[in-house]
Amino acid sequence: MSETFFVTTALPYANGPFHIGHIMEYIQADIWVRFQRMQDRRVHFVGADDAHGAPIMLKAEAEGVSPQALVARIAAGRPRYLEGFHIGFDHWHSTDSPENVALSQDIYRRLKAAGLIDSRPVEQFYDPVKGMFLADRYIKGECPKCHSRDQYGDACEVCGSVYPPTELIEPYSTLTGAKPVLRTSEHFFFRLSDPRCRRFLHEWLEQPGHVQPQVANKAREWLTGKGEQALSDWDISRDAPYFGIPIPDAPGKYFYVWLDAPIGYLASLKSYFDSGKARANGEPRDFETFLTDPDTRQIHFIGKDIIYFHTLFWPAMMKFAGAPYKVPDNVHVHGFVTVSGEKMSKSRGTGISPLRYLELGLNPEWLRYYIAAKLNANVEDLDFNAEDFVARVNSDLIGKYVNIASRAAQFISRHFESTLTAHRLTEAAHWREQSPGILLAGKDEPFEWLQSWQREARLVRRLYEEREFAKAIRVCMSIADSVNQYFDFAKPWTQVKSNLEPQLRRAQFVCSAALEGFRILSIVLAPVLPAATQQAANFLNVPEFKWSDIDGSLPPGHRINHYEHLMTRVDPKRIDALFEPAGDAPADTVTPAAAGQHAQALPAGAAAAPAQTPASISIDEFKKIDLRVARIAAAEHVAGADKLLKLTLDLGGETRTVFAGIKSAYDPAALAGRLTVMVANLAPRKMKFGLSEGMVLAASGEGGGPYLLSPDSGATPGMRVS
Ligand code: 2FM
Ligand code: ZN
Repeated sequence: MSETFFVTTALPYANGPFHIGHIMEYIQADIWVRFQRMQDRRVHFVGADDAHGAPIMLKAEAEGVSPQALVARIAAGRPRYLEGFHIGFDHWHSTDSPENVALSQDIYRRLKAAGLIDSRPVEQFYDPVKGMFLADRYIKGECPKCHSRDQYGDACEVCGSVYPPTELIEPYSTLTGAKPVLRTSEHFFFRLSDPRCRRFLHEWLEQPGHVQPQVANKAREWLTGKGEQALSDWDISRDAPYFGIPIPDAPGKYFYVWLDAPIGYLASLKSYFDSGKARANGEPRDFETFLTDPDTRQIHFIGKDIIYFHTLFWPAMMKFAGAPYKVPDNVHVHGFVTVSGEKMSKSRGTGISPLRYLELGLNPEWLRYYIAAKLNANVEDLDFNAEDFVARVNSDLIGKYVNIASRAAQFISRHFESTLTAHRLTEAAHWREQSPGILLAGKDEPFEWLQSWQREARLVRRLYEEREFAKAIRVCMSIADSVNQYFDFAKPWTQVKSNLEPQLRRAQFVCSAALEGFRILSIVLAPVLPAATQQAANFLNVPEFKWSDIDGSLPPGHRINHYEHLMTRVDPKRIDALFEPAGDAPADTVTPAAAGQHAQALPAGAAAAPAQTPASISIDEFKKIDLRVARIAAAEHVAGADKLLKLTLDLGGETRTVFAGIKSAYDPAALAGRLTVMVANLAPRKMKFGLSEGMVLAASGEGGGPYLLSPDSGATPGMRVS
């Protein structure tokens, strides 16, 4: 059997909606998968939610829901994004699943049997009020070096020094404010420092094709670190309370989320096989037979922040767990998305909300094209720049690609009853006869136009294969330029004016040849533009494109269908709307100035104001505002309102209705259950859609927004905020 691919993207944490970084990675993988399928390669492309860990547990607790309910709510919002951007996962699952429990426990037992699991006592901070060990991110205190207050347990954001949490002065738990105490508990370790692991990882990194060269270098640095930098064993256990998978024969101990997260790739694959979907996708084998087949290729697309896990732990775990588990064949790493050069926060995403993009009715294929046009095979950040986006989409996609079809179709339908030339396009003699003198530097005879389009199209194959998408797109646009040039030189518009048969035949030939170029271009662009190229295939009246169709041609006398415009131009104003703070009826939200320190209430109907510092107020004036923690009990769309969502807020007994201008940034389904902060003593305001009884707080500024405020975990509905 020939190669079959098992492709994954990094599993997103199930505590929030997708941001543009997720969508970029999925689009990258989806393009690659579609390209493989066009070559008749079998591909299984799966994803899942990364459900476990303390942050999800605490968030669920804060919302008063079970972690499972939180994960289910987030999962319910996924299809909207995936379908919206034409991202064709074959299956989507969760790491909180029976498959993942069974696989993780099995892999652990095998690693233990191989002598690669140790246990030893670990002393760690413990929150006596919460009854929980604290990860560094839940501990704050005074920096031991520069004495700045409220610094995290692992590093100071002011002076940059790194320290263990035990060195913090006056440490406190961010969960309860309690003073943490040191406590010892038994932890389990995966012995990554074992010589067998090191040897194997060196070999794995050495073999070409497993990772990009710069990634191999980084991983080797970790592998060979000395002294404090030396590779240490990996702590894979967490104590209860923890939302995770129980460790066999160790009551009260759970796998650290990063142990079971990558195993979630396999859990999703198993669920996909067991559900019968793999079979429906042409896969005759079962899960184990498929995984153990030497022709199966396991490929992971990930971001540069999680290289450590995917190039050290994950391959070593798979190697020493043994068959049917499989060492990855390729880990492909990409950079981050920046927006106009600015790095965005991982948890909050970037200033571009993918949901807002879809809600504004922007064409998802514009974004797919833009991402493809900027992605290379290196670990480089991808910058989203609005002007560049508009220019590329309008000049490349509309001005070059779509333009060919709209120009040529017009003549073929108007003058030739939608029928292509009776001359065979693959025969050089016809080109010589029908396009005499249409030569260009480097072309000795007219037939070379077609030959060059096909030759360049074949070149694109290798570029897609190597994930050099930007180069592939450049070649596509050079083909588009060439087809347009041929058309311009041949000037069929002058020939159709004549009533002479030879002139008309020539115009018909030239337009057919241009459509042949358009067909070749549609094939090479199909992985990036699945919907537009499907429409192109319908217009050309040909079956779904395959890569091998590059070598064929439209048959003589072929009839095409009516041309309908494939894609519209981007109106720059619509892209501006993507970046505008979504200032809807801002009487319902408070928008802190860009500096982030001051909040200002905006008058009804005003757009979100640019950063400005309001006049100072006294503490007594501030105290007049009754700020409360509120639970969003329900969130729904409002018929006829472009920007508003109707929120039902629970203030710990009392319920309020608030119309908030946050529709552009939030899916109502993802809001229900979460906590936020509201102004509870704002005079009720009668609005077109009903009475608004307060206002929720949200931030917005140059980085986009609105971003609803959330209290730290531990806060409950009705609590006073001061
Ligand atoms: O960094 C993250 O968002 C993780 N949830 C990625 C996990 S990838 C895989 F290991 F599941
Ligand atoms: Zn400091």
